[in-house]
Amino acid sequence: MKTQTSDHYITEIKRLKAEKNAVILAHFYQTGDIQDIADFVGDSLALSQKAAANSADIILFAGVKFMAETAKILAPEKKVLLPDMNAGCSLADSCKADDFEKFLKANPGRTVVTYVNTSAEIKALSDIICTSSNAVQIVESLPADEKIIFAPDRNLGNYVLNKTGRDIVIWNGTCHVHEEFSLEAILRMKKENPDAKIIVHPECELPVRMVADFIGSTSALLNFTRKDESKTYIVATEAGIIHQMKKENPLKNYLPAPPRDSTCGCSECSFMKLITMEKIYRCLLNEKPEIHLDKEILLKAQKPIRRMMEISEKLGL
Ligand code: 13P
Ligand code: SF4
Repeated sequence: MKTQTSDHYITEIKRLKAEKNAVILAHFYQTGDIQDIADFVGDSLALSQKAAANSADIILFAGVKFMAETAKILAPEKKVLLPDMNAGCSLADSCKADDFEKFLKANPGRTVVTYVNTSAEIKALSDIICTSSNAVQIVESLPADEKIIFAPDRNLGNYVLNKTGRDIVIWNGTCHVHEEFSLEAILRMKKENPDAKIIVHPECELPVRMVADFIGSTSALLNFTRKDESKTYIVATEAGIIHQMKKENPLKNYLPAPPRDSTCGCSECSFMKLITMEKIYRCLLNEKPEIHLDKEILLKAQKPIRRMMEISEKLGL
């Protein structure tokens, strides 16, 4: 049951949105109530596309910092708000600009394909950005003999390498949620639910990907449960996506894949879950915290993101 306070925030958020011509863009890893008040819910690719094409004056991002930064890079004339600046990303944090510059120097002559889960500084050092929805297609769009650097997720990088067979040097970063899923616990769950399909985000480690019936981005996983005829799924990604799966197909069962430490609650992204209804309300009311980026970094980062958007559009992604 929703509390009176939560209802109050929801009413106020709706009023402020209309008054200020603001939109709320929410990632699938947000809590269900936040997904429900958003104007648009999606994966990181769809959210970037939405940020680039809307008529609002203010974008409030219910997600993490790299997503809000990407929105600002694509829509610099808009005010982009993030309700909690501590909503970072362990994967983006694993790739600092100084270290990345050294890595690029140590591996010269390679095209730099960077996952969107990075800071604006890292994007500014990249040739082309990708998300988990288009990483394989972005790499395939490059000439077959092109040597590539993929950063920062080693699991997504390894997935792309296996799919494309390209010459790829991979940065050694991981996400604290996706690397924690336990293969043993997933297999135990599968034994107890033999008809369940195991669906996995490509940020998961290879042993977990190897037992998957389907691998894809959050929106691809959602789409799979929409079309597939099974009744039960073991879902190896952040548990927030299950809210949309249940909304679309309430009669199916969705079992969050268990992490190695059953007491840690690590199938939830602690950064994503820093965003609350109250923080959204205060952020819209005060129009802060606001994303500000160095102009030079912003302009440099725009190029590789736009390149990704153009390729995605051409491929109908
Ligand atoms: P998606 O690209 O599937 O939205 O994933 C983003 C993310 O942060 C995965 O952990
Ligand atoms: Fe970053 Fe992992 Fe959270 Fe996604 S789930 S935002 S990769 S920390």
